[in-house]
Amino acid sequence: MVTENAVRERYSGAAKQAEAALCCPVEYDPKYLKVIPSEVIERDYGCGDPSRWVHEGDTVLDLGSGTGKICFIAAQVVGAKGRVIGLDMTDDMLEVARRNAPVVAERIGFANVEFRKGRIQDLGLDLALLDHRLRERPLVGAEGWLAAEGLADELRREHPLVADNSVDVVVSNCVLNLVDSASKPKLFGEIFRVLRLGGRAVISDIVCDEVVPEHLQRDPELWSGCISGALTETEFLQAFEQAGFYGIEVVKRDTTPWRTVAGIEFRSVTVRAFKGKEGQCFERNQAVIYKGPFKEVLDDDGHRLKRGVRHAVCDKTFQLYRKEPYRAYFDLVEPHSPIPPDQAKPFNCHRSAPRHPRESKGQSYNATTDASVCRDGGNGSCC
Ligand SMILES: C[S@@+](CC[C@H](N)C(=O)[O-])C[C@H]1O[C@@H](n2cnc3c(N)ncnc32)[C@H](O)[C@@H]1O
Repeated sequence: MVTENAVRERYSGAAKQAEAALCCPVEYDPKYLKVIPSEVIERDYGCGDPSRWVHEGDTVLDLGSGTGKICFIAAQVVGAKGRVIGLDMTDDMLEVARRNAPVVAERIGFANVEFRKGRIQDLGLDLALLDHRLRERPLVGAEGWLAAEGLADELRREHPLVADNSVDVVVSNCVLNLVDSASKPKLFGEIFRVLRLGGRAVISDIVCDEVVPEHLQRDPELWSGCISGALTETEFLQAFEQAGFYGIEVVKRDTTPWRTVAGIEFRSVTVRAFKGKEGQCFERNQAVIYKGPFKEVLDDDGHRLKRGVRHAVCDKTFQLYRKEPYRAYFDLVEPHSPIPPDQAKPFNCHRSAPRHPRESKGQSYNATTDASVCRDGGNGSCC
C-alpha cells in the first residue's frame, strides 16, 4: 500500500502541474488533438497511443485515464454511437478530466465520455459510491474495518463499477506498471472479466529487458515514475496468456529505450490481445490452411498448424481464424454441404489432425468441370 499511496500522491501533484520526468514522447494523430484543451494535453503521462486500435461504435474503457487525453481521442474515433469510460483512482486527475469533458463534447457535437473513480485491479468496486456510503454511516475500529469490507463486497456484487462482459475494448496508457506486483494477476483477470466475448485489450505500457532488482522495486520515486513496477517484455505477454487471452501481439515496440536505469532498458510497447476462445467445440467439417511464411505455428489453444496442410478445426476455431488477428494467415475451407449448428457433434480440439479434401467435398463428389474464368484481369486464359 506504500506503493499505491506514493503513486496517488505523485499523480495528484502531476494533475495540478505538468511533471516533465513522467513524460515519454508519443506521437498522437494531430487531427484528434485540435478539440482537446491544452491543460489536458500538457499533463500527458502516456507512453503510447492505444486509441489507434479503437473502432467506430466501440464501448471503450480506459484504465488510469489521467486528465483524459486518450478518452477524448477515443470519443472522436468511436463517434456518437460509441461510448468511452475513463477510470482513475486519483481525485485531482478525475477533476481535470471531468471539468474538460463538456468542453470537448461541445466541440465535437456529442457527449459520449464519462469518468469513474476506481482502482484498475478492482474494477468491480465503485470508490465514489463506497465513499458516499461510508460518509452516511462512518465505521470505526476493527469491527468497522470488517464491516467496510463487507460493504465493499456488497457494492461489487450489487452495483459493480464495470460490469462483466460489458466493454468492446479496454485500453490503457502507461498505468499497468504502477500496480503492485501481488495485484498484477488480478488486474489482468479484471480486464478479461469486463470484456465481452470477442472484445480486445490494447495496452501501452513500459516494459524492461531484465528483471528489476528488489532494491529498485522498493524505491517509491522510481515506482511512481513508471520504472520499478515494469514487467519484463516476456512477463507482460505471459500475463495476458495466463488471464485467458488469445491472439496476443506486440503491435508497437519502441527500439530506443525511454530510460535506462542501472543498465536495464525500459521501453514502451503496445500489446493487443483478444477474449473469446472459450466455449464448446463442434464438428462442422471445416478446415483451415496456414499459408506461411513459417514452417508451422502454434495457436493459444494448442493447435499446431503446418504450412500448406489442410487442418481439421472446430467451428469456434474456424470463426476465430476468420477475424483479426489471424485472417491474413489462413485460407478457410467450408464443406460443400454445411452441417447445421444444431446437428453438429462435439469436436475434440486437443488433437491436431489433417482434414482429407473428401471430408470437405463429400465422399460421392465426382465432378469434372471446364477451366474456371480467370479473375486476375488477364486475357481469360489461365495456362
Ligand atoms: C502515468 S499516468 C497515465 C495517465 C494517462 N493514461 C495518460 O496517458 O496521460 C498514470 C495514471 O494512472 C492512475 N493510476 C495509477 N495506478 C492506478 C490504479 N491502481 N487504479 C486506478 N488508477 C491508477 C494515476 O492516478 C494516473 O492518473
